[in-house]
Amino acid sequence: MSVKIGLVGTGTVGGGCIDIIQKHREDFKRHFGVDIELARVCSLDKGEAEAHGVGHLFTSDFHDIINDSDIDLVIELIGGTGVAHAIVTEALKAGKHVVTANKALMATAGEEIFRIADEAGVEIAFEASVGGGIPIIDPLKHSLISNEISSVLGIVNGTTNYMLTRMDEDGMAYDQVLAEAQAKGFAEADPTADVDGFDAAAKIAILASIAFNSRVVLDDVSTEGIRNVQPIDLKTARDMGYAVKLLAIGHRLPEGIDVRVHPTMIPKTHQMAHVNGVFNAIYVTGDAVGETMFFGEGAGAGPAASAVMGDVLEVARHITLGIKPIVGCTCTDKLPIVPMDNLETRYYIRLVVPDRTGVLACAAEVFAKHDVSLRSVVQEGTRERDAVNLIFITHTAREKNIRAVLADLAAMEDMLQVEPTVIRVED
Ligand code: HSE
Repeated sequence: MSVKIGLVGTGTVGGGCIDIIQKHREDFKRHFGVDIELARVCSLDKGEAEAHGVGHLFTSDFHDIINDSDIDLVIELIGGTGVAHAIVTEALKAGKHVVTANKALMATAGEEIFRIADEAGVEIAFEASVGGGIPIIDPLKHSLISNEISSVLGIVNGTTNYMLTRMDEDGMAYDQVLAEAQAKGFAEADPTADVDGFDAAAKIAILASIAFNSRVVLDDVSTEGIRNVQPIDLKTARDMGYAVKLLAIGHRLPEGIDVRVHPTMIPKTHQMAHVNGVFNAIYVTGDAVGETMFFGEGAGAGPAASAVMGDVLEVARHITLGIKPIVGCTCTDKLPIVPMDNLETRYYIRLVVPDRTGVLACAAEVFAKHDVSLRSVVQEGTRERDAVNLIFITHTAREKNIRAVLADLAAMEDMLQVEPTVIRVED
């Protein structure tokens, strides 16, 4: 018996999946006793299906897949929370297993999707939603299941990691490096989801939900991106013995789950500081296993299709053997989200201010007013004749007080020339 598959989305990842099925179908039969058959492909572009040799399976209406009672498993690869939500929920309700790479969907509607899958007695698998080709959801749900996970740290956005690496190694300015990333196809024409941290936020919401057995959604994640980071920040951090990464952070604390995404200073001695370019890595600490790191390519046809097809084969094996899903939703606990205001850490804050007598003293006074103790202050020139960078490194301070400092500085007339750069330290 073959397991019949309906594929929705024939772009980069969908094309990669079609290629893998065509190349390895016989191997899968031999190695795993599972025969997967691509029965239908759906997208807006028949040319894409034809380019991968499956034009004869094409439909532009996903209902042709949902309503086809022969199809056992639907692969959803169009992304987003609109049509994709309808495809995934309707497929599950129709009794079809679903494999998706859709982080936005799982980070916003995961609870609903698991409930529908459970009611229908089918599986939902989403390994490719985080870290591209890196196996991380399956290890968290299987191999590491005996651990209480205390933290998950991720460099889970290749675009921003590439940009930070170029700024650090080559001193390229933010706008320059963004334009280069777009030209190389690493960054979208609208780079918002990547540079403002939302892509990483969806991914850490998914990872934190699994790691801490408690539902974390996109809105729970305090998110700041890399728009205000410039080469001077990377150079200053490097001189202090740190690398700057857009880190997706999940900690289990006594009072709940601390979950956030922001530019972060990581000690150069930590392995995560050496994850460069478009690579991703996820660092997981468990009470039994200790520290583990998962590293690999976070995007692209091959890596993402590898993760999708891993799920497809596992689900197909369950279908072939007639066994129930082994692991469904694991969010059994209801842990609170710790408010970002409670965070206590050290901060790097760079202000661009007018080069005038008394400005430094005035800014320092604002820090003192909010009980933020300074460890060091450095003044560096800018390209503008009348403006300077003031770089403040704080002792351990409370996020709430730092926000009050930034609000006061922003309200002062003729003080901040551009938005401050805030980088939190993760020791
Ligand atoms: N845009 C993502 C990244 C890849 O830059 O890593 C897809 O999740």
